[in-house]
Amino acid sequence: MDHISLDRQARAILTGNDRGGYTVPTAGLYPYQWNWDSAFAAWGFAQFDVERAWTEVETLIAGQWDSGMVPHILFHQPDPGYFPGPDVWGGTGPIPSSGISQPPVAATFIRAIWEQDRAAGAARARALYPKLVKWHQWFMDWRVENGAVCITHPWEAGRDNAPDWDGAMAGIDPVGVGDYTRRDTAHVDAAMRPTKYDYDRYIWLVQMGRRLGWDDAALKAQNPFRVADPTMTFILMRAHRDLAEMGRTLGEDVGRIEAWIATLERGAEALWNPDLGAYDALDVKAQKFAGCVSNASFLCWYGGLDDDRMRPQIARVWNAVRYPVPSLEPASDRFDAKRYWRGPTWAIMNALISLGLRDQGLTAEAARLRRDTATLIAEHGFAEYFDPHTGAPAGGGTFTWTAAVWLAWASPSAGDD
Ligand code: DGY
Repeated sequence: MDHISLDRQARAILTGNDRGGYTVPTAGLYPYQWNWDSAFAAWGFAQFDVERAWTEVETLIAGQWDSGMVPHILFHQPDPGYFPGPDVWGGTGPIPSSGISQPPVAATFIRAIWEQDRAAGAARARALYPKLVKWHQWFMDWRVENGAVCITHPWEAGRDNAPDWDGAMAGIDPVGVGDYTRRDTAHVDAAMRPTKYDYDRYIWLVQMGRRLGWDDAALKAQNPFRVADPTMTFILMRAHRDLAEMGRTLGEDVGRIEAWIATLERGAEALWNPDLGAYDALDVKAQKFAGCVSNASFLCWYGGLDDDRMRPQIARVWNAVRYPVPSLEPASDRFDAKRYWRGPTWAIMNALISLGLRDQGLTAEAARLRRDTATLIAEHGFAEYFDPHTGAPAGGGTFTWTAAVWLAWASPSAGDD
């Protein structure tokens, strides 16, 4: 199919998943507004409807809690097809929500949307800016250990069942979790989803958070799951940079944000696993590395680090598959080509990795990843994720963020190479 038809199809996916002010990732499997999905959606909308892009991020930020946290799911309307819903989470914000956050790509895409038309977006950027600062401050206050950004639930990283969390998950005994009915496996082949072992622990962690009223201090003291994560660390580092840039344009004092950037730049070294020769997740409670070269390891450039040490790693992982970048290196004995974050390729992660490569001057690699992702989508559709060996689509179909990164980045119409 030619790229003009694919552009049209991608726009139809975004508008088809639009629920009026917010976009669902895909009908059925994910019937609410997810935080980073929504920010990607806004980036996609900005390619053909800037007004709608602003609305998307404004609806997302409207769910901000008093603490500054912006939840990972906003449950705008009931939907029995998803578990766990708002009754299980018991979120305490202005809109029924979950009690954890998600990788804060929003500031980066808000800056990109604003740059489409500075004058038209000025008032909206000014209104969002202090809310973004408050959210980023919340991360710095409650999620940072030795300068690396931690997650308190696997869903917070967005990489739900990544092997990065296996060690910390093994430390949880999900006693008393009770009976529950999963809905995800009614929509998608169970072989592409997390296991019951994972879900017992996911739900146990939600129940604990709810019991503690989602109080950040109580959770920090009592939650056994605290993992310093390359996704969060590099994405927040990048988001701080974009937020600081917005602040400078708005004439704000960005000294505090610059200090946060310096903290995370120093802290990134805490994620360097010398035995692996790669950025890795670190279980903060056990002080143990996960031992995973994941696609999040390659976000170092996106974070803004000029770091050559990961170049041989990406070349090695790239050459091991037909459709890069797999979410786990195929040589790992935990690699599973179809199971969500344990092997499949994700177009959104490729977009972030490629933007980082480009920004660090690795333009040939950046362009190649963009072309490879465009081929993957053109051949196999707008799936949630893909088998990195065969390209077979996996997870949900007609997926918002895959359509969004097609429009904003992968499509030849978006191109700058
Ligand atoms: C899910 O339900 O699978 C989501 O990833 C949770 O955020």
